[in-house]
Amino acid sequence: MMSQIPVKKKRQPAPPLPANPEDHACFSDVALCLVEKRMGASRKAFLTSLAQRKGFCVEGANSERVTHVVSEGNSGDEVVEWMKRNGSRSVDAAGSGPALLDISWFTESMSAGQPVEIEPRHCLRVAVHAETLEARGQVAAYACQRRTPLAHKNQLLVEALETVAEEALFCGSEARNLAFSRAASVLKSLPWTIRGVNEISSLPCIGEHSRKIIQEVLEDGASAEVENVRQSERYQTMKHFMKIFGVGVKTAGQWYQEGLRTISDLQAYHTKLNNAQQAGLLHYRDLNSPVKRSEAEAIVQEVQKAVDQFLPGASVTLTGGFRRGKPSGHDVDLLITHPTEGQEVGLLSKVVSWLDSQGFLLYHSNRRNTFQVLEDPELSISTATMDRFDRCFSIFCLNYLHGSVKRDSSAWEPACGLKDSGDAHGWKAVRVDLVVAPYSQFSFALLGWTGSRNFERDLRRFSKHEKKMVLNSHTLYHPEKKIFLTAASEEEIFQHLGLDFIPPEERNA
Ligand code: CTP
Ligand code: MN
Ligand code: MN
Repeated sequence: MMSQIPVKKKRQPAPPLPANPEDHACFSDVALCLVEKRMGASRKAFLTSLAQRKGFCVEGANSERVTHVVSEGNSGDEVVEWMKRNGSRSVDAAGSGPALLDISWFTESMSAGQPVEIEPRHCLRVAVHAETLEARGQVAAYACQRRTPLAHKNQLLVEALETVAEEALFCGSEARNLAFSRAASVLKSLPWTIRGVNEISSLPCIGEHSRKIIQEVLEDGASAEVENVRQSERYQTMKHFMKIFGVGVKTAGQWYQEGLRTISDLQAYHTKLNNAQQAGLLHYRDLNSPVKRSEAEAIVQEVQKAVDQFLPGASVTLTGGFRRGKPSGHDVDLLITHPTEGQEVGLLSKVVSWLDSQGFLLYHSNRRNTFQVLEDPELSISTATMDRFDRCFSIFCLNYLHGSVKRDSSAWEPACGLKDSGDAHGWKAVRVDLVVAPYSQFSFALLGWTGSRNFERDLRRFSKHEKKMVLNSHTLYHPEKKIFLTAASEEEIFQHLGLDFIPPEERNA
């Protein structure tokens, strides 16, 4: 029988290291840096001598020569941080510094005896930080990576693009609407005014059609295409109808098809209106005059008083455009919660009934919370593009004479059709959205209801495509790990997503 013991091969002694490893290095354009974090000092020493024996040059983190950073078990962000902490001035989160690589690239290169081609699977992902891109004069592709203040510097161009975006929406073309909205949103984030079409070549999300419109506006002061849209009967009529609360693209389009053109037409032809639309028509003028911040604050106070009666300790937070610093808005968005989870259940209907009984409401429509973490978490989030909190869309009566909200019965004259502007009577109709969130979902609800819509859309898109996670106004879900990530603040949600925190005032995308 043959012996089971393998014959011991004579081991070649490792060639002695040259005094200066660089003298021995044969890949002159490659300099490795091994990240000690998680790798540990002894393994690092072992891998270093292995690499040097194979002819690779290995340098410290602070060397300017490093071309390939190799790490084991760290995320891209951790590697960037470690490198910076260890004196590197060349790592660059935006991607132009040394390559940040997983140990798999190193192992493959060692077996190949030469540096193998870098493939995407070797590369560590690094969140692209707003500051980094700004410093390089680059504009990030997602609105949630950009800072967009309220006042921007490209009014004419943005208005032109938003007009064609709106027109696309009226035509039912969501893709074109998105493309133009995104282009407009990029321009809103620019800290300078665009003067020549050459300045847009480095910008993301500007398609051929947007580029053409921008060029026309820059060269001629206006775009013929945009002007045609603005003049068109269809565009004007759709816009007019959609200013009625309760009327969306579908209804407005239907009325246009039926030959209706004006609000008097709706009355003349006895067009069927639902309750929301009737209220919308009745208060058309008020609801289309901007809500001022002082008015929004008066409503916050009134709602807080109502909430305090039923649930002391509950908070009312002003969200939406006002939280982003807008001086006025089309409505008031309020988010209600209570620090003891569960206490908030049933609160909204009590508050709304009370407000109604006191004459504060001209219209309301409630919807109960339908969000639950079902047994299958995928199911509980799949349909949640629109959130499912307890919610009330309402029209408040804001009373000027009494310095607060409240309908004064003597002044309340539901005039036939369009009533006079409320302020002639000392009151004004104001749209208010009330939302109640359980405490554990509050940060997600706050982030989701602060907007802007472009910012929200890109947050979700970024989560899905760049992080493989699902974000909505309730939660952040990781389908691969099958976990819900918790967050006690908006900052924590940005952290989970590897994004720099963008304060509400800079979310006006
Ligand atoms: N929102 C929502 N579901 C709705 C309506 C709005 O989740 N059915 C969210 C939007 O995503 C947005 C926020 O609520 O982030 C505010 O929406 P809205 O009041 O329409 O817009 P504002 O940004 O507040 O603008 P405005 O000042 O004109 O009210
Ligand atoms: Mn709003
Ligand atoms: Mn709203």
